[in-house]
Amino acid sequence: MNRVLLTGATGNVGEEVLRHLYTYSNKCEIVAGVRDVNRAKSKLAILESIAFRKFDFEDSATFVSAFQEIDILFLLRPPHISEVEKYFKPLLEAAKKAGINKIVFLSVQGAEKSKVIPHNKIERLIQSLDFEYIFVRPSYFMQNLTTSLISEIQEKRTITLPSGKAKFNWIDVKDIGKATAVLLSSFDSHRNLAYEITGSENLDFYQASELISKEIGSEINFKSINPIRFYFKKKKEGIESAFAIVMTILHFLPRLQKEPEISDNFKKLTGSKPTILKEFVERNRALFLG
Ligand SMILES: NC(=O)c1ccc[n+]([C@@H]2O[C@H](COP(=O)([O-])OP(=O)(O)OC[C@H]3O[C@@H](n4cnc5c(N)ncnc54)[C@H](OP(=O)(O)O)[C@@H]3O)[C@@H](O)[C@H]2O)c1
Repeated sequence: MNRVLLTGATGNVGEEVLRHLYTYSNKCEIVAGVRDVNRAKSKLAILESIAFRKFDFEDSATFVSAFQEIDILFLLRPPHISEVEKYFKPLLEAAKKAGINKIVFLSVQGAEKSKVIPHNKIERLIQSLDFEYIFVRPSYFMQNLTTSLISEIQEKRTITLPSGKAKFNWIDVKDIGKATAVLLSSFDSHRNLAYEITGSENLDFYQASELISKEIGSEINFKSINPIRFYFKKKKEGIESAFAIVMTILHFLPRLQKEPEISDNFKKLTGSKPTILKEFVERNRALFLG
């Protein structure tokens, strides 16, 4: 049985990976690597039999004990950490030194095409250090609607973004968790491969807002604004510069790119169809209505 260290286990994707691995796989022993063990234990209390270890991306003193006797590292990049040389290089070198040879890295769709994004640099670093790897490259999270965009939806019934008519491919984070759990449980069959994990729909925000309005029975209007105005709007709302930049790029860049490709990897890995946005909105109806 492989012992897997899950980073980001209290976040959107990490928690879903953990839940799917816990529920459906008996091939892995799960260790959650978290910066606050007590907080994580109370958040994930119903999951008995998983171990917790202190692990902090920003404190290299936590690496040695966290990495002890780990076979596979599930690695993600917390949104506020972008400096690859400063944080990921020492982390990956410490993992190697501890004898970890296998990494599943949560990247992003299209990471291989853009040399400037941190995910691309992390992927290349993993390869250059000779790890066996699997890159999970998901598309745009449906959960952005219920996290970073939810307060505006609830309070103003609007979504304001610099995304114009750009199409986004919508993936449910639960589906990312499910597919990643399969990859972790059968690492050797997928070694040194990259998997785009996408949903089945490409929709722009005008279409997504219309769909949400119809599903919840209350009108949500989409407003597209220019990226500079958007960035300063986020700053004014108190969002940290680094996250405001990430939000601006995430929602503006697709205007300059081709429509996202739709992959059948999710179906191939899990045997199921990916969640569609309508189902996600139904599931979260009460939250959208506030
Ligand atoms: N949003 C999208 O549409 C999209 C699409 C494709 C890919 N992605 C990528 O997905 C990743 C984000 O995943 P997510 O949404 O699951 O993130 P998230 O919900 O923000 O979770 C981040 C996790 O990292 C942990 N963390 C933060 N700082 C830490 C530290 N210093 N040491 C240890 N743990 C730390 C957090 O733990 P605490 O509970 O302690 O805070 C949390 O568990 C990003 O790399 C993003 O680029 C996003």
